[in-house]
Amino acid sequence: MKFLDWFLLLFIFAFTILRSVEAQNQAGFISLDCGLVPENTTYVENTINITYKSDADYIDSGSVGKIKDAYKTQFQQQLWSLRSFPDGQRNCYNVNVTANSKYLIRGSFVYGNYDGLNQLPSFDLHIGPNKWSSVTIKGVANFSMTEIIHVVTQERLQVCLVKTGPTTPFISSLELRPLPNQSYVTETGSLTRFARVFFSTSSSVIRYEEDPNDQVWSPFLNTYTKTISTDNHVDTSLSFYEVPQAVIRTAGVPANASEPWSIWWTLDETTQLSYVYMHFAEVQTLKANDIREFNITYNGGIRWYAWLRPESLKISSFASRRAMSSPDGKFNFTFTMTGNSTLPPLLNALEIYTVVDLLQLETVKDEVSAMRNIKKTYGLNKKVSWQGDPCVPQLYRWEGLNCSYPDSEPSRIISLNLNGSELNGTITSDISKLTQLIELDLSKNDLSGDIPAFFADMKLLKLINVSGNPKLNLTVPGSLQERINSKSLTLVLDGTTIPTVKGKSSKSPVVAIAASVAGVFALIIIVAIFFVVRKKKPERNTDPGPPSASPGIAKSETRSSNPSIISKDRRITYSEVLKMTNNFQRVLGKGGFGTVYHGNLDDAEVAVKMLSHSSAQGYKEFKAEVELLLRVHHRHLVGLVGYCDDGDNLALIYEYMANGDLRENMSGKRGGNVLTWENRMQIAVESAQGLEYLHNGCRPPMVHRDVKTTNILLTERYGAKLADFGLSRSFPIDGECHVSTVVAGTPGYLDPEYYRTNWLSEKSDVYSFGVVLLEIVTNQPVIDKTRERPHINEWVGFMLTKGDIRSIIDPKLMGDYDTNGAWKIVELAMACVNPSSNQRPKMAHVVMELNECVALEIARRQGSQEMYSNNSLDYSLSEFAPGAR
Ligand SMILES: *[C@@H]1O[C@H](CO)[C@@H](O)[C@H](O)[C@H]1NC(C)=O
Ligand SMILES: *[C@@H]1O[C@H](CO)[C@@H](O)[C@H](O)[C@H]1NC(C)=O
Ligand SMILES: *[C@@H]1O[C@H](CO)[C@@H](O)[C@H](O)[C@H]1NC(C)=O
Ligand SMILES: *[C@@H]1O[C@H](CO)[C@@H](O)[C@H](O)[C@H]1NC(C)=O
Ligand SMILES: *[C@@H]1O[C@H](CO)[C@@H](O)[C@H](O)[C@H]1NC(C)=O
Ligand SMILES: *[C@@H]1O[C@H](CO)[C@@H](O)[C@H](O)[C@H]1NC(C)=O
Ligand SMILES: *[C@@H]1O[C@H](CO)[C@@H](O)[C@H](O)[C@H]1NC(C)=O
Ligand SMILES: *[C@@H]1O[C@H](CO)[C@@H](O)[C@H](O)[C@H]1NC(C)=O
Ligand SMILES: *[C@@H]1O[C@H](CO)[C@@H](O)[C@H](O)[C@H]1NC(C)=O
Repeated sequence: MKFLDWFLLLFIFAFTILRSVEAQNQAGFISLDCGLVPENTTYVENTINITYKSDADYIDSGSVGKIKDAYKTQFQQQLWSLRSFPDGQRNCYNVNVTANSKYLIRGSFVYGNYDGLNQLPSFDLHIGPNKWSSVTIKGVANFSMTEIIHVVTQERLQVCLVKTGPTTPFISSLELRPLPNQSYVTETGSLTRFARVFFSTSSSVIRYEEDPNDQVWSPFLNTYTKTISTDNHVDTSLSFYEVPQAVIRTAGVPANASEPWSIWWTLDETTQLSYVYMHFAEVQTLKANDIREFNITYNGGIRWYAWLRPESLKISSFASRRAMSSPDGKFNFTFTMTGNSTLPPLLNALEIYTVVDLLQLETVKDEVSAMRNIKKTYGLNKKVSWQGDPCVPQLYRWEGLNCSYPDSEPSRIISLNLNGSELNGTITSDISKLTQLIELDLSKNDLSGDIPAFFADMKLLKLINVSGNPKLNLTVPGSLQERINSKSLTLVLDGTTIPTVKGKSSKSPVVAIAASVAGVFALIIIVAIFFVVRKKKPERNTDPGPPSASPGIAKSETRSSNPSIISKDRRITYSEVLKMTNNFQRVLGKGGFGTVYHGNLDDAEVAVKMLSHSSAQGYKEFKAEVELLLRVHHRHLVGLVGYCDDGDNLALIYEYMANGDLRENMSGKRGGNVLTWENRMQIAVESAQGLEYLHNGCRPPMVHRDVKTTNILLTERYGAKLADFGLSRSFPIDGECHVSTVVAGTPGYLDPEYYRTNWLSEKSDVYSFGVVLLEIVTNQPVIDKTRERPHINEWVGFMLTKGDIRSIIDPKLMGDYDTNGAWKIVELAMACVNPSSNQRPKMAHVVMELNECVALEIARRQGSQEMYSNNSLDYSLSEFAPGAR
């Protein structure tokens, strides 16, 4: 029995609500009818007596829409209009809430063919920086809703709709209801509702005003259950759970009193953690000799509660004190009369929630509000990516920002690039609240007023660019000039007005003053300085964070004609290479354009790739790779340690990847170790992150062009990094997204559309990555002429028509994997290798899906450990202390 389906079915037939018992006020309720116009309209919803208003004050993006008239009659007014989000990956509602309090947050969705496309959308909902749930609309006139019980930590809550595919996210209504802080307590995470039911023959849903917190209760009954009820008042005053009278006054009892009574359900995802709440009250007037007493066990005898005697006309609520899980997602609760009991068991109401882990921390509060003020001051609403949290998740970081991502601490903003953003007015003091800022680019705007003195107090600030603001008064405040003189800060101004430089400033090479025409030259100098500064930091390659070059600077860097200016420091002579490799003693393998040797550089192991002299394209590719690698740093991309450009001898020196490439590991060439499913999921997600970074994280974005298993290298601990950017090409992102070049790549992995049309886009990498995913899952050769279907895509497609996932998964895994995860990843891979590039997902989406596969696998492992460890098999009574008495 799936409660959810039953519930949704009922919900469609409007809320035929029972008579109001106690009028309540709607204190703290936020009830938004999304897309309601005109914006100042409010109305009281029929039957539930809740006042809804337009969402216009809570969001500054999206378009309003209305479901087709034909569908209106089935739904309440709050579901007639909606707001959709054709632009931007992530669009967010900002709601004022009370910090550190618990809320029930509910999103409702009715598609109703509002856009005339008859195409059912699916997308994700996020709460702050974390995913809350996926929304998949199942029919044109189907109602869906999703709820979360969540403790908000700040005064602002963000609810975001995130695009995950070709369809457009939308929302019909958004509701927030404060809940008592003592209710629904979890060890970790927030709760999404799986079921909230009471036992009744009626088909009416109960919510406000019966339920003062506007929780929605659905009636439930099956053939094994009948109901009993009372007209008397049931005392609920001492409970944290404000269960409405209409719910608690009725109870389910077994239809056949002599048999044990069971209630069961299957969670949508196996091994999900969940919490169960049961509410009891005796609603029958007991005779002198009557005893109603029962035990509750689940899944074949695990004790949940023993000797339970519901109190007469008084609620007792029981909650699982710990998250529960079951290996197959199935739960079967059995209620058994004890020996002395004369009456069968009873249950008045049941709630089931699954746990959503919200692991990402929000960016530091003051910086978030500073960024929001900056957005408002300069009217930057048109920046589509400026929605939700500025830094997290990294994937949706605001355009022009760079952030630090320390472990288990909130993110901070470290660079802000508002180059060419049509800023006017003065430079806002909100910038001073970004205390970790290292680089600030305000160039090419229409700013006026003074250069503020507060820049001097921003201790970490190293580079400020205010060039190209003709109205700006270029007088440099004294304190700032001091910092410039002490070389702790670089200020880039227009040459048109020479700033007053005190004393011996002519000696100071750090002040880069450039006329706009000479901008390129100035930038080269800045870049040079920047690299010198960076070079001084000792732990370069261990730094897992994002590149700290500001995007504006990085952009001009690629235009600079002479890359050796920027990287002399890592240039190594041929004789050093000979020494390093001990005269090329140990060969690691043959890479893209030459042989790779093992070497030692400053006590660290490195891989030295020598470029073969015969390689025709050699020098060009070499320079391309040096330029790229020096610019690109990501923990899932193989890092460049140095390079050699010494006459005819060209070499690239990379960090050493102890476990070789993925292909070797899959084929068993490196000893007999079989990569576990968890290893494989981790490798998949990490290499996807590397690729996603190339596509979206670096400026300008890049296409790898040669994604394959031999280009995925593994560290000592089987962390994955993407290698070989020899073929990478930057590609423009706006307008034209294609670059025409000579087709390059590896047979089997090569995007057929790219091969045919010669048009390159990042979707070609997605194709190749899909092939890699299929290899990871199946461990089959990409092309095998002896197979009925030689190419792996065709083979998997063919095998899938038989419907048995097990026949395609690598037999070496011996069945030790999560079947749901396997389906998910195979479906994802098949979407990636779609012949039409338009139909393929973006890497951002691939990363998200793979993260879910990893989570499934981790949950599976933990779940099975928990279920089979001794202490959880026999729950003791104390773990289920009553939630109220
Ligand atoms: C809504 O705004 C319009 C124009 O701005 C005004 O004419 C109308 O009276 C307002 N309605 C309400 C209910 O305030
Ligand atoms: C609707 O709610 C208001 C207060 O929010 C209350 O005054 C009124 O009596 C309620 N109406 C009904 C029919 O319950
Ligand atoms: C939320 O609070 C801020 C300041 O606390 C205020 O400026 C803003 O108008 C509020 N927004 C809404 C929709 O109430
Ligand atoms: C969609 O709604 C219709 C009734 O409107 C129902 O018959 C159908 O089962 C629903 N589909 C899904 C997938 O829930
Ligand atoms: C639930 O458990 C009871 C008792 O163990 C059993 O009789 C019943 O068949 C089970 N129901 C399901 C659906 O597994
Ligand atoms: C009820 O649970 C108690 C404690 O586990 C146990 O001793 C008793 O035998 C159970 N009674 C029945 C009928 O299962
Ligand atoms: C059951 O009833 C008997 C006799 O009335 C009594 O001695 C015994 O303690 C009762 N058992 C429980 C568990 O209440
Ligand atoms: C900035 O520009 C906007 C529109 O372009 C204008 O409305 C506003 O008055 C300007 N502000 C200042 C301070 O010039
Ligand atoms: C620029 O600012 C300085 C100091 O505030 C002031 O003395 C000077 O007159 C200003 N120049 C212009 C052109 O407004």
